[in-house]
Amino acid sequence: MPARLAHVSPAPSPRAPAEVDFTSLRRRVDAALEEFLEAQARHPVDACLPPLVDVVREFVEGGKRLRPLFCYCGWLAGGGEPGGGPVAKVGAALELFHTFALIHDDVMDRSATRRGRPTVHRVLADRYHGKDREAAARFGVNAAILLGDLCQAWSDELLCAAGERWRRRAEPVLHAMRTQVMVGQYLDLAGEWTEDALDRSWRALRHKTAGYTVERPLQVGAMLADAGPEVLRLCTAYGRPLGEAFQLRDDLLGVFGSPEVTGKPALDDLREGKPTVLMNLAWRRAGSRQRALIRELHGDPALDEAGAERLRDVIRRTGADTAVAELIELKAGQALAALDDVTVPAPARTACADLARAATRRTR
Ligand code: IPE
Ligand code: IPE
Ligand code: MG
Ligand code: MG
Repeated sequence: MPARLAHVSPAPSPRAPAEVDFTSLRRRVDAALEEFLEAQARHPVDACLPPLVDVVREFVEGGKRLRPLFCYCGWLAGGGEPGGGPVAKVGAALELFHTFALIHDDVMDRSATRRGRPTVHRVLADRYHGKDREAAARFGVNAAILLGDLCQAWSDELLCAAGERWRRRAEPVLHAMRTQVMVGQYLDLAGEWTEDALDRSWRALRHKTAGYTVERPLQVGAMLADAGPEVLRLCTAYGRPLGEAFQLRDDLLGVFGSPEVTGKPALDDLREGKPTVLMNLAWRRAGSRQRALIRELHGDPALDEAGAERLRDVIRRTGADTAVAELIELKAGQALAALDDVTVPAPARTACADLARAATRRTR
């Protein structure tokens, strides 16, 4: 059965039909999530919990499930059975960790929409009993922090539910992954245009996203399959550049993407003054007048669409957007080339190649 990457666009190349059934894996991950969340709602510690579980349920519906899919690729590369064994549950745990990361990320980035819907802190703010809008916003943020924390704790619970044997194999990677994401998110907080700003933006990108989206899930899958060192090296050689390309694409979509397609706003990165690789490249290439404009508008909390368009114009004129697009191609190429260097089962190779294309050419 050909691979189907629901919610990932464009679809995998029709020239290279994969023998890997992503649709079925996705369905099993969704079932594991639903079963777990349903159990939380059925035996709540307090009546306030079920409505919160519903908020999580609705939120998780819209994800592309890339992390479970990469976990599955790692599993296959390590010689795991095509059915996926423990990958559905462990993948669901990864997805709940991702849910935590996104809920907190939207608080930190003050984002109003994700997956085409209001972000969790916005949804919760609407539940505030009272007319004071500032208090409602503060309630929404605080409640979202708690719900995000809960998702991280639940991610751990789901991992335990997968079984002791699988938990022990996956946990060392997950421990490293958690620290890495927090460090990356810290580095992503807005900084000055200092000499080392570009280097810092690369470190942020690697830690906040590349690791937990691609390399770590691959490693988790490989560890579950008890893979040898060669496959673990592949997880890094293929996963690291691909993870970087994935976030570079996210940076481009965050500035030039269409909110109707991405489901996310196109002003937040600019308004928050995000120190992305894209912006740092633009800064390095900018002339003095362009730099003055970047200083004035990038990170302006009141930035409107007209101001954002002026910033986009500077980015285009410096050629930073083209440079980032070229970097994406380069890194996707490095990831694909890494697949040629090792012997892995054919379905794993095809699945990795399809995912590499889908993750870097995506429009959402
Ligand atoms: C978005 O990740 C957040 C980043 C790490 C860039 P995805 O693009 O995988 O988000 P969903 O899960 O499909 O919404
Ligand atoms: C998200 O980074 C990273 C994590 C969720 C840890 P971004 O802030 O760049 O991603 P989006 O654009 O909001 O999805
Ligand atoms: Mg964000
Ligand atoms: Mg962010």
